[in-house]
Amino acid sequence: ATHKLLLLPGDGIGPEVMGEVKRLIDWLNSAGIAKFETDTGLVGGSAYDAHKVSISEGDMAKALAADAIIFGAVGGPKWDAVPYEVRPEAGLLRLRKDLALFANLRPAVCYPALADASSLKRDAIEGLDIVIVRELTGGVYFGEPKTITDLGNGQKRAIDTQVYDTYEIERIGRVAFELARKRKNKVTSMEKRNVMKSGVLWNEVMTAVHKREYPDVTLEHQLADSGGMMLVKWPKQFDVIVTDNLFGDMLSDIAAMLTGSLGMLPSASLGEVDVKSKKRKALYEPVHGSAPDIAGKGLANPIAMISSFGMALRYSFDMGDLADKVDAAIAAVLASGLRTADIKSEGTTAASTTQMGEAILME
Ligand code: NAI
Ligand code: MG
Repeated sequence: ATHKLLLLPGDGIGPEVMGEVKRLIDWLNSAGIAKFETDTGLVGGSAYDAHKVSISEGDMAKALAADAIIFGAVGGPKWDAVPYEVRPEAGLLRLRKDLALFANLRPAVCYPALADASSLKRDAIEGLDIVIVRELTGGVYFGEPKTITDLGNGQKRAIDTQVYDTYEIERIGRVAFELARKRKNKVTSMEKRNVMKSGVLWNEVMTAVHKREYPDVTLEHQLADSGGMMLVKWPKQFDVIVTDNLFGDMLSDIAAMLTGSLGMLPSASLGEVDVKSKKRKALYEPVHGSAPDIAGKGLANPIAMISSFGMALRYSFDMGDLADKVDAAIAAVLASGLRTADIKSEGTTAASTTQMGEAILME
């Protein structure tokens, strides 16, 4: 079958790192390994420059019709003063909202060749391979009321509200359990049931989904604060961690930094499975931004972007074997000593974006 991809390179280093994914896609097509039909759209500052929007209605329609979206990065000082509604980030937020991308997957993988670049002890992180599944569309970032009120006595009161319904916890739980089945078969659910009602419900619903639908997977519960401590102390004890929007935001940034550079970290954002087509809306993007400081210089590390495409192979197209090959190619290139500037050590010469992309392809 032909798979429809929408490529949204965006701004800054976005187009540079996307170029390396395009090279890989073209090669997969010409070698007859897969059949991808790609279309390209504008998002962020580049869409603003062309059409005074953060993403056009035409590109939104393409995004809704695509089997997967491969997204670069948006933003940069050039667009700091554009109207708030059309700021570059608005395009990404619109995609997440209109495609209802409620599940954010952030793997933290430590390539053995880079184990010394981490702030942790080598044996604690060498070969680390975990995924944080963060609920992305609910919780305290969106719950109402969300207000700041003037109390009139020189005091103000700020209110944010954590809201979770059963169905929201069930569907993020299913994403985590399904993922665990393809990995080491273990899920750790993190909340704070000791002080939060939403934590009590989260725990209850995860336990019920597990018992009813995934009894073959190991489920553990961990309070989110001590979970954070354990993540830093011995991260290899985890496989899949599932948690809410706020805790997931923090825990995934912490997990990311266990492994090294921003230029290495991929992510996936998944929506509901469509009942008719059985397909899931999905957007794959590197964790990093548009890196205006190095944009246009050919210095960007394309690995986060390429392994985001690897996640698309795995989660949207059921090409886990091919995704494994992409991961192995990245590991082999790193083991050979090739490094872009962000991951190289003192006194060695850095590879360019293109050199890195080509080396991965050659593997
Ligand atoms: P950033 O991730 O763009 O850059 C942070 C630092 O990491 C910079 O020194 C940069 O050079 C380096 N870096 C990032 N990716 C790299 C790569 N692939 N290879 C080598 N070095 C890399 O974050 P920053 O500077 O906070 O934001 C820059 C712009 O990006 C802002 O406009 C921000 O709003 C936007 N941004 C967009 C995101 C997205 O599109 N999802 C996410 C984060 C930031
Ligand atoms: Mg964050």
